[in-house]
Amino acid sequence: MGLNVEEIRKDFPILKRVVNGNPLIYFDNAATTQRPVQVVAAIARFYLQYNANVHRGFHTLSQEASEAFEEAHEVIAHFINAYSWEEVILTYNTTESINIVAFTWGLKNLREGDEIILTVMDHHSNMLPWRKVAEITGAKIRYVDITDDGLLRYDMLEEMISEKTKVVAFPMMSNVLGTMNDVKRIAKIAHSVGAIVVADGAQWVPHAPTDVRDLRIDFLAFSGHKMLGPTGTGVLWGRKDILEDLEPFKSGGDTIKDVTLDSVIWHDLPWRFEAGTPNIAGAIGLAEAVKYLMRIGMENVREHEKELVRHTLKRFEELADDVDVYGPKNPEVRGGVVSFNVKGLHYHTVGKALDLFGIAVRTGGHCAHPLHYRLGIKGTVRASYYIYNTVEEVDRFIEVLKTIVKLKDRLAKEKVEDVCTGG
Ligand SMILES: Cc1ncc(COP(=O)(O)O)c(C=O)c1O
Repeated sequence: MGLNVEEIRKDFPILKRVVNGNPLIYFDNAATTQRPVQVVAAIARFYLQYNANVHRGFHTLSQEASEAFEEAHEVIAHFINAYSWEEVILTYNTTESINIVAFTWGLKNLREGDEIILTVMDHHSNMLPWRKVAEITGAKIRYVDITDDGLLRYDMLEEMISEKTKVVAFPMMSNVLGTMNDVKRIAKIAHSVGAIVVADGAQWVPHAPTDVRDLRIDFLAFSGHKMLGPTGTGVLWGRKDILEDLEPFKSGGDTIKDVTLDSVIWHDLPWRFEAGTPNIAGAIGLAEAVKYLMRIGMENVREHEKELVRHTLKRFEELADDVDVYGPKNPEVRGGVVSFNVKGLHYHTVGKALDLFGIAVRTGGHCAHPLHYRLGIKGTVRASYYIYNTVEEVDRFIEVLKTIVKLKDRLAKEKVEDVCTGG
């Protein structure tokens, strides 16, 4: 069926913006996506018509808010084919979700001599929490490398895995290379020694069908703001039998069933992990975003982005002498992310020049500095796509890049401050 991009674009008024005299081309979706009017309306409805705190009240507004909040868990559970809505913990972002796993499961189960396997393509949000927990527990971190084509070295993972391995944590899709990892294969290797599998789905869940049962992972982290939802929303999904065995990461209001001066009985799932008043409006907005994605179909989202990437890689061939493109050449194993450098130009210079033409991309280390060092560079320019992007936008982007290449000598004289940007 495919996506009806023209119809979809009508739901995103921001795409009508003119930036520096040019129609906006928004290619910074891996950092955060735009939100459709449906999501903004759902949030506004909550605030304007039934705003109240959840869990606590017997009054009508509180019950309506609680119902919508609980429904958000169910909608998300359905979206990722969780066994139960109780396995869905609403967090603030992927970073928090991974920290919850590292500092609850990790601190409880890791000992000196244990090993945690990560990858060189990890985002800092997956790398640093595990490094901190390793420092505290005495566990050792090991990194799986990539091939020259930007694929994960499965041979190396197989070689590294042993009875000492307790955790394998990795990005399902790289936010720089676009590489879509073979999640099932990684899970099978990890489970062969009884290690848990922690999947960083920040760049996968928004862009491709996700079925946690079929993937056979143990934990999945992702961000609502990267999939049409509000900022300050994220999800941690975990297998119920594992979560039930864990104590809260943050404790306080709503995490308990009962407290005396010297004892506590923790609440059921997922409330045990959602301390304090949650982001109720965010949860409602995220559920609306998920419904939007389910209506258009995640298979269609994936196919659309594959097409955009195929087209981009093809058009980049015209710039082969002047541009280095990173990541796999095959769109079948690559998501809607294309990172590159214009030879002789700083990535920030290219980003600024693109902005003059209304094209929003992200430049820098993309919170994956070790990966860039592995590639022998400090940063890249990254174009990242979503459901509202078009082949025509890609064509315009390539034409503008050709202009930038022509002006290279002049642009190279610009002074650049090497600021660290996120995403
Ligand atoms: C692969 C990956 N993991 C984790 C994150 C962190 O997401 P957040 O900033 O929403 O916590 C990102 C964000 O860009 C990402 O791309």
